[in-house]
Amino acid sequence: MAKQYDVAVIGAGAAGMMCAAVAAARGKRVVLLDHATRLAEKIRISGGGRCNFTNVGAGPANFLSENPNFCRSALSRYTPQDFLGLVKKYRIAWHEKHKGQLFCDDSSEQIIGMLRAECQQGDVAWRMPCKIGGIEKLDAGFLITAEGGDIACDSLVIATGGLSIPKIGATDLGYRIAQQFDLQIVAPRPGLVPLTFDGPSWEAFAPLAGIALEVEVSTGGTGKGKKNKGGGHFREDLLFTHRGLSGPAILQISSYWQPGTPIVLDLLPEMDVAEELISSKTTVKKQLGNVLAQWLPARLAEGLLLANGFAPDARLADMADAKLRKLGDAINRWAIVPTGSEGYKKAEVTLGGVDTRELSQQTMMANKVPGLYFIGETVDVTGWLGGYNFQWAWASGFAAGSSV
Ligand code: FDA
Repeated sequence: MAKQYDVAVIGAGAAGMMCAAVAAARGKRVVLLDHATRLAEKIRISGGGRCNFTNVGAGPANFLSENPNFCRSALSRYTPQDFLGLVKKYRIAWHEKHKGQLFCDDSSEQIIGMLRAECQQGDVAWRMPCKIGGIEKLDAGFLITAEGGDIACDSLVIATGGLSIPKIGATDLGYRIAQQFDLQIVAPRPGLVPLTFDGPSWEAFAPLAGIALEVEVSTGGTGKGKKNKGGGHFREDLLFTHRGLSGPAILQISSYWQPGTPIVLDLLPEMDVAEELISSKTTVKKQLGNVLAQWLPARLAEGLLLANGFAPDARLADMADAKLRKLGDAINRWAIVPTGSEGYKKAEVTLGGVDTRELSQQTMMANKVPGLYFIGETVDVTGWLGGYNFQWAWASGFAAGSSV
């Protein structure tokens, strides 16, 4: 005999716990199921262990989706200030880092503890660790075949997240359930991920691992016929790694990058390098390498000169203006084509997911399957780096939790 609940939530991560707590506070009998042995690992490791739990400026413009307006309703009904109110209620100390990012002062464990306490207040039942066998649609509600006994529920919420970091329990269960009910999926791919480079054009930069600097980065867009085709443009820190490029600038642009296309870096966004070099030709007696090293890390300056066919010891005064313009371009508009990305094992998020055209933007319920909901990262809504992805998890969890 299946155990009966009003609501079953599969996936006890950020979105799932928020949804369960909100539904339980409305008097619903809720069960949360998860296959992991440790609760909410992604929250635990987030923000370097301090959880960047929201961003005060979060709005639809900070998200990628085939349908960029879909997230508007949920984001406006559960705002960063609402989540901050909960954090304050639990007396969790927090601080704002740059660009509106809010972090715990102490530990991301506090956010997990807070969400678990909210669930406990509403007597949410836990089934964890628990393998899910399958889902069946009944005349009224759903039947879940699960380790420890079957569960029958009126509403079923899928909050199993994306494919990023498989070693801590990410699976494609959410997509498989969507497909079982004939819901479209926007092809998933890694987002907020380091990019890799190799080949002759990268040789001069391969030894630069560890160098970091603030840059502007842009890329063309998410491809022909797609929304967000305006592409991304960010000013953030760049980090050279052993396999390519990382740092916030690259993580941000990776979500907009399409394989085979270049990213464009401005390594000195405050300066028109060609103008500066040409105008100081007659007064500055230095070698090119030393001139650039005034503005850029010396090893990077040397790598850029070598990669562009300049001898670092050539004298600035001897260079033709046309050549200095070419060098200026290589620094202010450095276009390079990544070989690939570090993939799901390093990606912070998964782009794509359940097509939002299949879901109600007010409730997150599937239009053609009454009672079936998808929330969080399983859905084709992906935030920038900086607390936006958790805000989407809270907001979409709240929307479903208020409706089930
Ligand atoms: P989430 O992944 O949190 O939860 C899904 C749950 O479903 C998991 O508990 C999993 O075990 C369970 N599950 C999966 N498959 C299952 C199956 N087959 N059966 C049963 N259960 C299953 N975002 C942000 O805003 N600020 C930040 O600081 C960071 N930092 C960060 C660091 C790192 C290293 C990563 C990888 C990611 C971040 N993120 C982030 C992104 C953020 O963690 C992510 O977007 C949210 O956790 C998504 O919330 P969900 O609830 O949708 O999925």
